[in-house]
Amino acid sequence: MAKLNPIALTLTILCLLVSTHDVHAARHGPPSAAVEDDICGGKEKVVKLHFYVQDLRIGHVNATVFEVAKASITPTNPFAFGSVHVLDDLLTEGPAYNSRALGRTQGLTTNADLSAFGIAMNLNFYFYAGRFNGSQLSILGRNQVTDAARELPVVGGTGAFRYARGYAIQTTYSMDPVSSYAVLEYTIYTTYNSKFNSEIDDEIETAEM
Ligand SMILES: *[C@@H]1O[C@H](CO)[C@@H](O)[C@H](O)[C@H]1NC(C)=O
Ligand SMILES: *[C@@H]1O[C@H](CO)[C@@H](O)[C@H](O)[C@H]1NC(C)=O
Repeated sequence: MAKLNPIALTLTILCLLVSTHDVHAARHGPPSAAVEDDICGGKEKVVKLHFYVQDLRIGHVNATVFEVAKASITPTNPFAFGSVHVLDDLLTEGPAYNSRALGRTQGLTTNADLSAFGIAMNLNFYFYAGRFNGSQLSILGRNQVTDAARELPVVGGTGAFRYARGYAIQTTYSMDPVSSYAVLEYTIYTTYNSKFNSEIDDEIETAEM
């Protein structure tokens, strides 16, 4: 990489800070060099993911989003405070519905702001095709949907995304209120384990409990 990547640089610094902290925190001696290498040294990389989510809302003939709960205030609050939705949206490579299917976006969204459309997001991106087939990435955060671009934290994952951290930018690619069909665009910068499936976990020490 000839170009200096500020995100990679920041993550490298974070990584070093975490490693140093771990060494000081360990009461039974520092972790072996192998452990630090597994998490940070060359195996953890940053990747930019870009995909679309097909949001077929209530009212769409093939809806994949449903309201599961509401509060006494929901019908009278202008921002539908307390409304909780569960979703299982198709995740695609391109914006078209029949674009290559990469996985599902599953989780809960809650209208959690009394005076704005501020949505508490709890989403799992479950990939069943492509480079990250079998891995999951989780995001959690506040989504003010009236903003043009919304930033959400990546809080973890499974498979290649074990220990993942990063952020997602969500924008609305298209929205058709008549058919209740929205397409959401996601750009995610996240760490991942570039040596996933290479038996590295065998080297990690077991802690005394
Ligand atoms: C709904 O799903 C059916 C079956 O997959 C499909 O044939 C139809 O085109 C879909 N309708 C819309 C509006 O997407
Ligand atoms: C994804 O991985 C599963 C399990 O290894 C495999 O069965 C499936 O064929 C893969 N899907 C694609 C599209 O490669």
